[in-house]
Amino acid sequence: MVHQGNMTQRLVIPRCPSLDLNVGVEMQNSIKSSFWAVALISLITWSTPLCADSDDFQHWIKRQQLRALNLLYKNISAPGTAAGSVIASPSKADPNYFFHWVRDAGLVMDPLIRIFMSTNDPGIKQRIFDETHRYVQFSRKLQLTPNLSDGLGEPKFFPNGDAYNESWGRPQNDGPAIRAVSLIRFTRHLLKLGHEDYVQEYLYDSFEPSESLVKADLDFVAKQWRQKSFDIWEEVLGDQFYTRLVQRRALLEGADLALQLGDSISAKGYRQEAAKLSTIILKHWDVNRSRIIPTLSTQSGPDKSSGLDMSVILASIHALGADQFFSPSDDRMLATAARLVAAFQELYAINQASNGMGPALGRYPEDTYDGVHTGNRGNPWFLTTIAMAEFTYYAKRDFLKAGVVKITELNAPFFRWVWPSEDLQPGTEILKDSPLWEDLMDALLRFGDDFIRRVAFHINRQTGEMSEQFDQDTGFMRGAPNLTWSYAGFLTATWVRKVAEPR
Ligand code: NOJ
Ligand code: NOJ
Repeated sequence: MVHQGNMTQRLVIPRCPSLDLNVGVEMQNSIKSSFWAVALISLITWSTPLCADSDDFQHWIKRQQLRALNLLYKNISAPGTAAGSVIASPSKADPNYFFHWVRDAGLVMDPLIRIFMSTNDPGIKQRIFDETHRYVQFSRKLQLTPNLSDGLGEPKFFPNGDAYNESWGRPQNDGPAIRAVSLIRFTRHLLKLGHEDYVQEYLYDSFEPSESLVKADLDFVAKQWRQKSFDIWEEVLGDQFYTRLVQRRALLEGADLALQLGDSISAKGYRQEAAKLSTIILKHWDVNRSRIIPTLSTQSGPDKSSGLDMSVILASIHALGADQFFSPSDDRMLATAARLVAAFQELYAINQASNGMGPALGRYPEDTYDGVHTGNRGNPWFLTTIAMAEFTYYAKRDFLKAGVVKITELNAPFFRWVWPSEDLQPGTEILKDSPLWEDLMDALLRFGDDFIRRVAFHINRQTGEMSEQFDQDTGFMRGAPNLTWSYAGFLTATWVRKVAEPR
């Protein structure tokens, strides 16, 4: 079961791999009649063809978005779970992922909330509102459930809401921040629609201590961010770049929301804590090794001598905001991204022949978790490979906005991956009206797309299903099947592709 999926059957595929579009008639009909087809119309991406086969690629993306959304939705309030819970995967053994992880759930609700915000269809709006309301109620119940983290940093619960009282890497303090960031988006939109009463009752009540979900999460972050936390891979205890960056974002978004709701005291407090985080986060930049270090003051956990971890890239896209703090176009981010790509390119056998695809990416080079057991060889993951696409699309968006790309010593290694050209020496500035501009922008889109093409090659092509990992030698899927986060990542990444469009 775990090994279902597609092998790398075709040895040579063209630069623009033609993806098999011959889905069965049954599948086509089910997609056409799918409820979600309507929801996606406003978000589907179409971009200028870049090569002969790119129409195929765009069709494939569109179809896969529908499948991803259907598969994601199945894991929310799934049979045998409490309403509003989000299982990480339906797999109950080898590995058992039949739990509600606070982090995964927040990331999974995010694309639904974005559809909620963008759709004009009242049926879809209502349906997502109802589902999100159930998630809000379930999450509030979890906030009040005694657990071994003794607070909101408990990483996972049984999907009936019971605490998981076995040993685990705890606390994981990114969870409340992620949940807050997703739900603040939801809250803002509800306020726009005039639902102050709902917001006051369930999301943000201005009380101290709060009885509402979002404010309780924000107060937890504001008070507890100095506490050491396990990383998002649940292995290393220390000060985490990912956790700190999303905590900072939650506090800044929370401050804006608090202000909007007249709670200026909380707004001020959140801002002050965010400012302290901003200073401390700078320490993660290792100037000698030109990379952002994922964990400082490590107290326990596996060897990570490379100092490279895809959680840094995920942090950049999950903590994105108007202030561009460690955003994907930041030189330090680009420097780190280039080293991550290089490390994984070399590490995995399936990356040795590119066949028009980008390299498959794992969590970190030293990883020994094979999807079931630790102590073996780690594999590439769907959600990390997809994240590099999303990261690149956002970087491109930033450059388009700025109207200039400045090549520096730090970002040059990234641009060498994107576009191997003598023209991109450190010190060069490429302006929007320069003859190189369009080519460079196309190359960035292409670089992002290549990671999506990699994903397209390893998923189950009949059903669009994605597990957690795919084997570094055979390309077969491995680990938890139908990992909900894989679908959420695919949706957010391919939606961003739209903003990355060239003209
Ligand atoms: C399960 C965790 O979910 C995974 O991230 C970790 O690598 C292994 N346990 C080993 O600790
Ligand atoms: C293991 C991953 O390392 C972790 O990030 C995730 O939260 C859990 N699996 C559940 O998907």
